[in-house]
Amino acid sequence: MNSYKFPDDFMWGVATSSYQIEGATTEAGRKPSVWDTFSANPGKVLHDDTGAVACDHYHRYETDIKLMAQLGVKHYRFSIAWPRIIPEGRGKVNEAGIDFYRRLVDCLHQHNITPHATLFHWDSPQALEDLYGSWRSREMAKDFADYVSTLVSMLGDRITNWMTINEIPCFTHLAYAVNSDPLHAPGTRVETQKEVWQTSHNALLAHGLATQAIRAASPSNCFISLVDNISVTVPISETPENIKAAQQAFHLCEQNGGIIFPALTGAYSPALLESLGNAAPDIQSGDLEIIHQPIDSIGLNIYSGTYVQARDNAIHPYRDRQPGYEFLSFPVGYPKMYMPWLNIIPESIYWGIRHIGETVGRKDLPLFISESGCAAQDQVNHQDKVIDTDRIMYLRQYFKAAHRAISEGYPLKGYFVWSFMDNFEWSYGYDHRFGLVYIDYQTQQRLPKASFDWYRQCISQNRVV
Ligand code: FCB
Repeated sequence: MNSYKFPDDFMWGVATSSYQIEGATTEAGRKPSVWDTFSANPGKVLHDDTGAVACDHYHRYETDIKLMAQLGVKHYRFSIAWPRIIPEGRGKVNEAGIDFYRRLVDCLHQHNITPHATLFHWDSPQALEDLYGSWRSREMAKDFADYVSTLVSMLGDRITNWMTINEIPCFTHLAYAVNSDPLHAPGTRVETQKEVWQTSHNALLAHGLATQAIRAASPSNCFISLVDNISVTVPISETPENIKAAQQAFHLCEQNGGIIFPALTGAYSPALLESLGNAAPDIQSGDLEIIHQPIDSIGLNIYSGTYVQARDNAIHPYRDRQPGYEFLSFPVGYPKMYMPWLNIIPESIYWGIRHIGETVGRKDLPLFISESGCAAQDQVNHQDKVIDTDRIMYLRQYFKAAHRAISEGYPLKGYFVWSFMDNFEWSYGYDHRFGLVYIDYQTQQRLPKASFDWYRQCISQNRVV
């Protein structure tokens, strides 16, 4: 019998991010982020929702942390809002902003929960957008590193697990576009694809410089990771041919070849550079060394994937090229959770982990799932309960895929469920709920869902129940 038991030291956790939960956007010296500006712009976010109040976590963090303690998690991943710490993006430090995170982290420690702080989860200071266009400029990487250095010197006595940046593709390739309005802040139209790739290159530089800054500023030994949402290619069946196809396809799936490869190997994928041609970013000498800093682990945010199969591409859409694989589109009616992009593919967890080891070649690097979870159309029933069996179904399958990776020897160290509570889901506003805890946005009441109880049992028995 397979009881899906996890290793004794496995880290079960939950994740959130600042703009999605905190609210209090004008309090205690905080200045606007690009997401405040973007969401205030009519038509950008579903129902014109904004993060102005969100879950009011800024005022209710003690209640929330007590609930985390009831859940039994020992690890919490949250993010720090740059515009609370350095409201203008560069220059003057806002002590009141630092104090908020001191209180938050102290409260976590009182409940024996280890903080894992993400230093950037998309809410960059609007002032830097006004000054030089945010990620379009290399200045952004330097300003980010300065902010990180300040913060780590002030909070490094309380936090030793740092995540530099969350999901580079989402605030670069989804936030800058040619010929269309981008879905994410700052929502800038640019002239060329090369400019878009330059924004992600600048973000990689920011990750590298921040890693150096953390090591220099931390008063004690600390652990640094990058968090990436690799696009996972999943073989349609696990034959040697299809596995090889999925590995080759991984390089050219979305931005993998230009983000996870340079970050973990020090080089853009040659297959990607070839396909980009003159759309490739300018890479200055020394950039790749900065980008490829030694890190202690990689955090993967995995929700879904893309099926791939081997194919003898005699006639292939890319003219005479014969890559030996094809990306498969999803059939009509493929099962999804409540989000257009959320096709249910539990094996994406296993394959994402395996690609880091085999395809990117970093078998040595410890990993954790820094986010995984799903949206559902949660309803409070007449007994005041949210019985989200759909979310339990989803998580159960994804946990089993994580278990498989561990049982095959991959160094998976932990799993952070997205999300602890319902929150502001970017351009989908408050309509798409991802939480284990339901938020009544009228009253700010917190209501643990059935999935909360289910996850509590998994954690206490350290297995998939
Ligand atoms: C990820 C983001 C996170 C959340 C989930 C659903 O891309 O990192 O903030 O929105 O998706």
